[in-house]
Amino acid sequence: MRVLTGIQASGKLHIGNYFGAMKPMVELQEEHELFTFIANYHSLTSSKDAKTLKQYTIDATIDYLSIGIDPNKTIFWVQSDMPQVLELYWILSKFTPMGLLERAHSYKDKVAKGISASHALFSYPVLMASDILMLDTQKVPVGKDQIQHVEMTRDIAIKFNNEYGDVFTLPEHIVQEEVATIVGIDGQKMSKSYDNTIELFMDEKPLQKRCNKILSSSTPFGEPIDYENDHTYSLASLFLDNEQKLELQDRYSSGKEGYGHFKKYLKELIWEELGEAREKRAYYIDHIDEVNDILSMGAKKARDIADIKMAKVRDAIGL
Ligand code: ADP
Ligand code: TRP
Repeated sequence: MRVLTGIQASGKLHIGNYFGAMKPMVELQEEHELFTFIANYHSLTSSKDAKTLKQYTIDATIDYLSIGIDPNKTIFWVQSDMPQVLELYWILSKFTPMGLLERAHSYKDKVAKGISASHALFSYPVLMASDILMLDTQKVPVGKDQIQHVEMTRDIAIKFNNEYGDVFTLPEHIVQEEVATIVGIDGQKMSKSYDNTIELFMDEKPLQKRCNKILSSSTPFGEPIDYENDHTYSLASLFLDNEQKLELQDRYSSGKEGYGHFKKYLKELIWEELGEAREKRAYYIDHIDEVNDILSMGAKKARDIADIKMAKVRDAIGL
């Protein structure tokens, strides 16, 4: 099965991203033919300056390699290193009714949030369709907000195929239902827009400080704590199997430990889970040439596939 994931690089990754997107992605490469790219053309729609976009791109690359994207199993590149998608984007634009784009929720949401309403932002789903269709993608794992974009991709592909022959594979989205929304330190959905995240790669002391800031109720020390409504428990349980969860529940009910103990335990769980990733990350930061080599190798493979696809597309439409 050919699976494609596009990553919008937009700053420091957090525990919500890790469990909601990164870990499931790393698991996919074991059983599927995984293609993953950093969507920097897409990020341009919200980018403020060149330096930040470049930095975010390299940071995201290093973070994903560190948590386990394996360049020997996954084709991993930066979107702008496969510029063929821009040609296909134009061609697909002809098969994209205005009404389809006008119905896009994501565009409306972004404009409502204050991102300026440029043509790039409006036609963003066509570029995403190009990413997907270029590689004959079968499955696209996405967050709920991106489902509509995959549906639009199908509509565009069907329109093309009806008029010019069966050139494109119709993709389907996959939504990881079992990953519930991960809470932030204030109990809302963890999101960088709410400033309530626990970042993945913090030093140990700041990490402990951040865990200490998790909102907790005021059960007096010595009394049992209701774990079901505790955000520290909710976060810690992400790292635990069933048996370990039961043990932690017992500790909450015993009345012998307070919130401070559980926050310390959570910090240890995070620190331990990311131990190997931290080492890899330090390695890649010191060996940027190797990171660039991995991206060049991935881009070359992706471009080769794109060249074959574009020859078919150009032929089908008479260019
Ligand atoms: P943020 O809300 O911090 O801006 P993004 O929208 O960039 O995060 O999310 C990137 C990916 O991480 C998406 O696939 C999204 O589903 C996942 N993700 C982000 N926050 C959470 C969360 N709190 N719980 C589960 N998954 C999340
Ligand atoms: N739009 C996606 C997001 O914001 C990123 C993306 C761009 C993507 N092109 C893609 C995702 C192709 C999957 C497939 O998260």
